[in-house]
Amino acid sequence: MNEIKIFSPATIANVSCGFDVLGLALDTVGDEMIIRKVKQKGVRITKIIGQDLPLETHKNVAGVAALAFLAKTDSEFGFEIEIDKQIKPGSGIGSSAASSAGAVWAINELLEKPFKTIDLVRFAMEGERLATGVAHADNVAPALFGGFTLVRSYEPLDIVSIHTPRELFATVIHPHIEIKTSDARNILKTKVPLKDAIKQWGNVGGLISGLYTEDYDLIGRSLEDYIIEPIRSILIPAFDAVKKQSLKAGALGCGISGSGPSIFALCKGEESALNVAEAMKLVYNKVGVDYDIHVSKVNKKGIKIL
Ligand code: HSE
Repeated sequence: MNEIKIFSPATIANVSCGFDVLGLALDTVGDEMIIRKVKQKGVRITKIIGQDLPLETHKNVAGVAALAFLAKTDSEFGFEIEIDKQIKPGSGIGSSAASSAGAVWAINELLEKPFKTIDLVRFAMEGERLATGVAHADNVAPALFGGFTLVRSYEPLDIVSIHTPRELFATVIHPHIEIKTSDARNILKTKVPLKDAIKQWGNVGGLISGLYTEDYDLIGRSLEDYIIEPIRSILIPAFDAVKKQSLKAGALGCGISGSGPSIFALCKGEESALNVAEAMKLVYNKVGVDYDIHVSKVNKKGIKIL
């Protein structure tokens, strides 16, 4: 096999209470990529469609992740990467993660899997470092492992796959403004009051427990963020109204997807997720904000060959 075409999913990071540690993969939106094994060594980005992004390998997240991979092998081959960029950069649903994770996953396939998934996470994190200044793993981990993931520890890197309840759906609305993750990180406080930390780790435990026991009410009660959302939500148009209307329409919980501006809701069942989508749309139609919207099951497989 010298060439593969893949789908690399969009992801929701943080999932309200789990800043930099929780994430989940989506099914209905993601980047498509073609990766080719060639004789000429090195990594070349040969084509990008859909977005205006750098073709220079060192400036492109997929290129940087691929180089991190190849630095750990003595491969006699090089790789060409084509990206059909369907996730907009700065949208909050893991645009850089999808391209970084997709590149290393595909190269691993083409080389007959010299690395484990956890190693691929490490390489893909280098793409995140280029995009955001910080090598966070909460988007690349669910893209690579599929489903819900927890970064239990960064040093050493320890990723835990979390059970996904069968009826869990996500609705994501992306208002058409761009928020750079680096900017959304720079406004955060570096110290957390103990009273907020207590509420937050209670929710992380509650969410994980709710996912395993398929207790949708517990999942909903746990989708609260006392630390990041109060600061970042002011950057997002009509955030409070979207959240209020989503909950009223039956969402289990609602919060900022990654560093925003996308807003996500988790729902029990597709019908509920579609109702929530209508409620979100109504808010932005009234306010006059352009958007796209996605309703998706949690993607348990992660990246796949097309
Ligand atoms: N955990 C990261 C952040 C995710 O919120 O900054 C970025 O998608």
